[in-house]
Amino acid sequence: MNNVILIGFMGSGKSSVGKVLANKLQRNFIDMDDEIEIGEAKSINDIFDEYGEERFRELETSYLEKLFTKKNKVISTGGGVVLKEENVDILKKIGTVIFLHTPYEALLNNLQGDLTRPLLQRADSKEVIKNLLEKREPIYFHAASMIIQTKDKSINDITDEIIKLL
Ligand code: S3P
Repeated sequence: MNNVILIGFMGSGKSSVGKVLANKLQRNFIDMDDEIEIGEAKSINDIFDEYGEERFRELETSYLEKLFTKKNKVISTGGGVVLKEENVDILKKIGTVIFLHTPYEALLNNLQGDLTRPLLQRADSKEVIKNLLEKREPIYFHAASMIIQTKDKSINDITDEIIKLL
């Protein structure tokens, strides 16, 4: 089976779902944000702070390119990975792209008090989430070949649903 790739907004559960899914499918799990943090020996927060978002986006693409050699993995991506068409093309080439669709209210709840996401470290973070979501949601829908609604579902439910559809 091909790589399985999870896309979706920050806080939609890509990493948590990815870990459980990989376990159930007996595959290795790759978290793109972790790959970047390990490879650069810096947290995502520090990369944004020291080099800015644009540099982070370049790193994101270069780490994605390394995935061409991978097979049979479960891969979770950063929420902004779909912003570059080039990245979406790579994702579609290397596997089945699954969008975890989570409604705004649930995202707010999951992201409340988060300190790890540089884009949300501001007083008007709710507004930022709303605006980013409006901009990105159509892109996630377009990039994905499979859409999973996560509302009111457990990680167990979500992973079972994905497995049935694969
Ligand atoms: C980002 C999402 C983050 C991380 C970075 C930027 C975004 O990943 O890549 O903070 O632009 O949505 P998660 O979606 O795993 O939080």
